[in-house]
Amino acid sequence: MAKYSGQIVSFFILLSCFLSVSHGRNISPNFQVRAVNLGGWLVTEGWIKPSLFDGIPNKDFLDGTGIQIKSVTLGKYLAAETGGGTIMVANRTIASDWETFKLWRINETTYNFRVFNKQFVGLDKTSGMNIVAVENTTGLSETFEIIRKSDDLNRVRIRASNGFFLQVKSEELITADFQGNSTWGDDDPSVFLITLVGRYEGEFQVTNGYGPVKAPEVMKEHWNTFIVEDDFKFVSSNGLNTVRIPVGWWIASDPTPPEPFVGGSLLILDKAFSWAEKYGLKVIVDLHCAPGSQNGMEHSGTRDGFLEWGLTDANIQETVAIIDFLSARYAKSPSLLAVELINEPLAPGVSLDSLTKYYKAGYDTVRKYSSTAYVVLSNRLGPSNQTELFPLASGLTNVVIDVHYYNLFSRIFSNWTIQRHMNYIQNNRTDQLTLITTTNGPLTFVGEWVAEFEVNGATKEDYQKFAEIQLEVYGKASFGWAYWALKNAQNHWSLEWMINNGYIKL
Ligand SMILES: *[C@@H]1O[C@H](CO)[C@@H](O)[C@H](O)[C@H]1NC(C)=O
Ligand SMILES: *[C@@H]1O[C@H](CO)[C@@H](O)[C@H](O)[C@H]1NC(C)=O
Ligand SMILES: *[C@@H]1O[C@H](CO)[C@@H](O)[C@H](O)[C@H]1NC(C)=O
Ligand SMILES: *[C@@H]1O[C@H](CO)[C@@H](O)[C@H](O)[C@H]1NC(C)=O
Ligand SMILES: *[C@@H]1O[C@H](CO)[C@@H](O)[C@H](O)[C@H]1NC(C)=O
Ligand SMILES: *[C@@H]1O[C@H](CO)[C@@H](O)[C@H](O)[C@H]1NC(C)=O
Ligand SMILES: *[C@@H]1O[C@H](CO)[C@@H](O)[C@H](O)[C@H]1NC(C)=O
Repeated sequence: MAKYSGQIVSFFILLSCFLSVSHGRNISPNFQVRAVNLGGWLVTEGWIKPSLFDGIPNKDFLDGTGIQIKSVTLGKYLAAETGGGTIMVANRTIASDWETFKLWRINETTYNFRVFNKQFVGLDKTSGMNIVAVENTTGLSETFEIIRKSDDLNRVRIRASNGFFLQVKSEELITADFQGNSTWGDDDPSVFLITLVGRYEGEFQVTNGYGPVKAPEVMKEHWNTFIVEDDFKFVSSNGLNTVRIPVGWWIASDPTPPEPFVGGSLLILDKAFSWAEKYGLKVIVDLHCAPGSQNGMEHSGTRDGFLEWGLTDANIQETVAIIDFLSARYAKSPSLLAVELINEPLAPGVSLDSLTKYYKAGYDTVRKYSSTAYVVLSNRLGPSNQTELFPLASGLTNVVIDVHYYNLFSRIFSNWTIQRHMNYIQNNRTDQLTLITTTNGPLTFVGEWVAEFEVNGATKEDYQKFAEIQLEVYGKASFGWAYWALKNAQNHWSLEWMINNGYIKL
């Protein structure tokens, strides 16, 4: 789960659910997964542990942060005309997609700006001075220093790689040829006001934010302290039998993953398996971040929110290789219950075709190493058919469909009373689960849920009831369920807190 940035995404997340189920691995047919997600551990999500970002210099300028830039002299926003591929202009009175630039952070002062159509803002190659948005890749010409006014951080000047500051010459001409100092006044064409819109706090942001020297230190400290052996003991002694562990694609190239990712998480996953074995827990390894990002959300490891997973066969093959690596490494562990091939692929950006191709290849790959491990297939989020994976699943054994049920992230849930939330679980969620839970079909898994809703003044008793009814309904999923998450800065999202404070009893 994660905070979904982007209203379009949140709007579509309403009925989506996912997860997977599996039998096997010497477990009895009556075994039902009662799991907790170890979210925010090997895949960073800032909202789960905000303090992880505290030490990043200039930490409001992280990768993917959207920046809207208004000229003080014209009172108009900069835009990549037509969304990108041509000139930059300064003639917009309101800012929306074409007026929003996604930061790529080089270091705390230096950035690239990615436009709506994915090009980068840069100096025109002919003039060496006019600002355009045409290049598909970044080079020196696409690199800019952002200088913030020390007592008014949203007032900025932008220096291009030719050494000069950007200035607006007219509504249709922005150039990098302003020399010298500024008094930061409203009459200075090199001064801009910025608005930050949209922010990502995922693994890319935290590692690139700290940079190559500090990030390894910070991440190792986090991995070694956020979840420890005692947590596995806690999980096993509180009525749970499984942990679902989100991992990122870079773990397969540990100890030297591509920058900015940091090596060392693989040894932590090894430890997780040994603790699971020690305390009699099963593990679902969940590929939460696929290369290119399968949903553009911060928990997919995205740099800037674009969804680029599954667009080429090479990308799918690269992802299959990660499943190969993980399956080979953990197939022999008696704790390996399941491999989840990808978390929350988002429709329509991820097509059913690409996903089916990937699931088929991913399934075969897991089977190279294990005939019994369950293979979990996440349903697509967004506008999608909840039984669309059935034709694929019918030819496979020990497969599980994963759905995620949150009474959040959609306008449909706003201003609901507690009773309405309860009824929705009792009736609609039951119907949704019944639709996908069939006698000879794949198993079903509510792989993420939480006892949280947006209701003002809800009491402890309300939360207890809300948790209870979900446990009852999701208990009918044929594979089982998993709470999101074990630990979280927000109490209701922390199963540890919910158990320790008497909100949930298993
Ligand atoms: C902004 O300038 C471009 C380039 O001249 C023009 O095509 C576009 O229509 C202008 N947009 C507005 C809102 O004035
Ligand atoms: C940031 O990167 C730019 C471009 O590579 C470099 O000139 C500058 O010195 C760097 N600044 C810091 C603080 O590292
Ligand atoms: C950027 O990519 C597009 C689409 O592949 C291509 O048409 C265009 O020529 C490329 N632009 C540059 C400057 O390379
Ligand atoms: C800009 O200000 C700096 C620091 O006050 C000063 O050293 C420099 O000479 C000034 N440059 C110009 C072009 O005025
Ligand atoms: C959903 O997909 C399944 C499997 O392809 C198909 O049988 C069913 O008719 C589809 N449902 C809808 C509403 O399109
Ligand atoms: C929820 O209630 C608030 C306050 O009454 C109202 O402003 C808002 O429009 C409502 N939202 C929806 C989606 O109905
Ligand atoms: C819940 O189910 C009822 C009965 O099928 C239906 O009328 C209602 O629209 C559903 N609610 C939502 C929010 O989908």
